[in-house]
Amino acid sequence: MSKFAASAEHTAAVRQLIPGGAHTYARGEDQYPEGMAPVIERGEGCRVWDIDGNEFAEFGSGLRATTLGHGFEPVIRAVQRYLADGVGFVRPHRLEREAAERLIDLIPSAEMVKFGVNGSDTTTAAVKLARAYTGRDMVAVCRQHPFFSTDDWFIVTTPMSAGIPAAVRPLTVQFSYNDLASLASLFDTYPGQIAAVVLEAETGEPPAAGFFAGLRQLCDKNGALLVLDEIITGFRWHERGAQYVYSIEPDLCTFGKGMANGFPLSALAGRRDVMRLGGYADDADRVFLLSLTAGGQPWALAAMLAVIDTYEQEGIAEQLHSTGADLRAGVEDAVAAAGLSDYFQVRGRDCNLVYVARDADGQPSQEFRTLVLQEFLEHGILAPSFVVNAAHDPKAIRQVIDAVAELMPVYRRALDDGVGTVLRGRPVRPAIRRRG
Ligand SMILES: Cc1ncc(COP(=O)(O)O)c(C=O)c1O
Repeated sequence: MSKFAASAEHTAAVRQLIPGGAHTYARGEDQYPEGMAPVIERGEGCRVWDIDGNEFAEFGSGLRATTLGHGFEPVIRAVQRYLADGVGFVRPHRLEREAAERLIDLIPSAEMVKFGVNGSDTTTAAVKLARAYTGRDMVAVCRQHPFFSTDDWFIVTTPMSAGIPAAVRPLTVQFSYNDLASLASLFDTYPGQIAAVVLEAETGEPPAAGFFAGLRQLCDKNGALLVLDEIITGFRWHERGAQYVYSIEPDLCTFGKGMANGFPLSALAGRRDVMRLGGYADDADRVFLLSLTAGGQPWALAAMLAVIDTYEQEGIAEQLHSTGADLRAGVEDAVAAAGLSDYFQVRGRDCNLVYVARDADGQPSQEFRTLVLQEFLEHGILAPSFVVNAAHDPKAIRQVIDAVAELMPVYRRALDDGVGTVLRGRPVRPAIRRRG
């Protein structure tokens, strides 16, 4: 009997009920080896248990959202305290003031803030505000950054653009990270037409010296707003955001994921003269800005306040960096000892690590990635990435390093004899693809 029998049965059933069998593509069965996609029963700290009763050390941290780990007590307590008092009122709750004050105090560029539920809503709101403020329609997004929003202005740039009117496509153009000339050339090609430049502070590649200052100058010179997506980097690079780490001066910035340790809360923050358009402006047309039935829920704001307290009291951002550094060093040593450093690599900032599995030609390979996932799952590790949270203890880090050491001979065999000799099912595929 397979160790994943109950998960496999469940997965087959939900395929008929939910398109793609999951409510988030990144959680789909196609992201895991065939027949080895565990369905989760519960989590605690850095560990999860599936419906077959298997225990896993989990990396990836809830799509990078649970930076404090699962079921983190102070956050749960804060949520429970406010849940019991009601979940939605006809007027704003008292906590909205404290939450806005705390976030504005924390984030260097924030003069006003509006809370939402999803990250996507807030980056879309930033784009909309920028369009209204500048009177322009186009948006320039960073080509290397994988995700900004579920909405058309971004999804139209991906292979999964079915259902989006063709008229939307020309409005989004792309520039390259660390390549100011590529952005300058967009401004030259579309003079007076680009409303916003949207990017994350950093994904795989670190910023080159002068990149952010150059970006600011280009936006100012060309009258576009700089929108910094801090949905991953905020509360991971630092509780004050990557803008604090790298002295970036965005006009608007967006937060989500870690800000409420996985509870649905997001925020759009930025310059008062831009944000005010979402309020009671009478000298400019008003922007319909993030007005949601589920907006500003007291329990979600309470979660954020508990998260901020924890970061400030316990130095969480430093912990994420040092835990990631330990993981990276141990994994790289184990790979180097096997002589496979050209094939299995750790990339990214220590608080936000991913691994790259390469084939015999040195190309990133879905087959080899699947092999790694397969061997990790066999070793009780659920790791679509090496993204850590504050609950990852030395035991969990050791577990990964030992598993990598044991993976290496298998990887070597796959390189020498073909990955098909050790891979048990079909390979994983990119979550965002056109067909299949
Ligand atoms: C950088 C970035 N921006 C925006 C989003 C969208 O956030 P959400 O899934 O909460 O809508 C994501 C989600 O993965 C993201 O990684």
